[in-house]
Amino acid sequence: MKLGVIPENLIERLLLAIKLVPTPLFDTQVAFMLARTVMAGTKLGVFEALAIGPLTAAEIAAQCKTDPRATIKLLNALVGAGYLRTKRERYSLAPVAQKWLLKDSPRSIYDKMMFHFTEWEWTANYETYVRTGKPLSIHEMLSDEAWGVYQRGMRAVVGFQAYEVMWRTPMPKNARAMLDVGGSHGYFSVAFCRRYPGLRAVVLDLPEAVRHAAPILAKEGMDDRVAHRVGNALTDDLGIEAWDLVLISQFVHHFDDATNRDLVQRAARALRPSGILAIQDVLPATAGKDPELSLLADLYLANTSQSGSRSFEEMADWQRAAGLVPRKPVRFRSLPGFGQQAAMKPAR
Ligand SMILES: C[S@@+](CC[C@H](N)C(=O)[O-])C[C@H]1O[C@@H](n2cnc3c(N)ncnc32)[C@H](O)[C@@H]1O
Repeated sequence: MKLGVIPENLIERLLLAIKLVPTPLFDTQVAFMLARTVMAGTKLGVFEALAIGPLTAAEIAAQCKTDPRATIKLLNALVGAGYLRTKRERYSLAPVAQKWLLKDSPRSIYDKMMFHFTEWEWTANYETYVRTGKPLSIHEMLSDEAWGVYQRGMRAVVGFQAYEVMWRTPMPKNARAMLDVGGSHGYFSVAFCRRYPGLRAVVLDLPEAVRHAAPILAKEGMDDRVAHRVGNALTDDLGIEAWDLVLISQFVHHFDDATNRDLVQRAARALRPSGILAIQDVLPATAGKDPELSLLADLYLANTSQSGSRSFEEMADWQRAAGLVPRKPVRFRSLPGFGQQAAMKPAR
């Protein structure tokens, strides 16, 4: 999938075909105006105000405590962007806003939208990163409030991935114990424990994260089987032959090769015989497979971590070096550019 300039009539189609449309203006100004309009609508509570039904601009402004004239500008921009509809001076939610942006929608990505404000600031560092080669240390930069936004933002996007991950991850027979490294919200662990009734999971994350991730996990009502452990996956003892599944999701992109090799060694030691180590993350671009998204994500990750996206081959190499047997990698359909490299610890 990719973003693009879409002509709306025959003349525009022709101009685009003969390359007379200044597409860089759409890729930049239109893209950031659109992004910020939708983000502002979310943050100011416009979509939430309309959850109960159509309202006039004055009613929305009163609910959102915003300036009435400026609110009309935002509402009309959201109509133009396809997020709101208008009829007889009343505004209502378009299906896209109803489905994805309301806090209580089953498919809500509201919390990810709020996290976008932090990510917006991070991307402002691109020029500095490219000039100096120095990425941001995001985990050290976050305020306590931003840690909360980060954890809730992560949870908001895994709702629709967790189901596929849970079905496509190999699991040893009669698995009893899972370790979710850098597991944050713990939603992957919840999905696995719901599928495998004999399984219990430990979600290991930093103290700053667990402080905010604990209430997110508590909402799942699984505290008898899924528990947080405060710690540091880079230095903590992960145990010996303690786990049937170790999941390392969206974690290795934060660290350099030597750090990941060491983590995988310790995770392999911590697996029971026939146990599975599953590493999943954003993948580097490969020919013909979502190159725009993957390459943009690679720069994004490089700016915000010590490393960037890692290939299946790199992950399998760490696993082999740790005595594991890599399996065929999996590309997830629910999130383009995201995949899993699993490996098994040989049976005794
Ligand atoms: C990008 S999030 C991924 C969260 C979750 N695994 C997922 O896939 O949605 C990375 C997580 O790793 C955690 N983390 C970073 N460094 C860590 C460390 N040294 N030890 C444990 N957790 C760490 C962060 O706090 C954050 O919750």
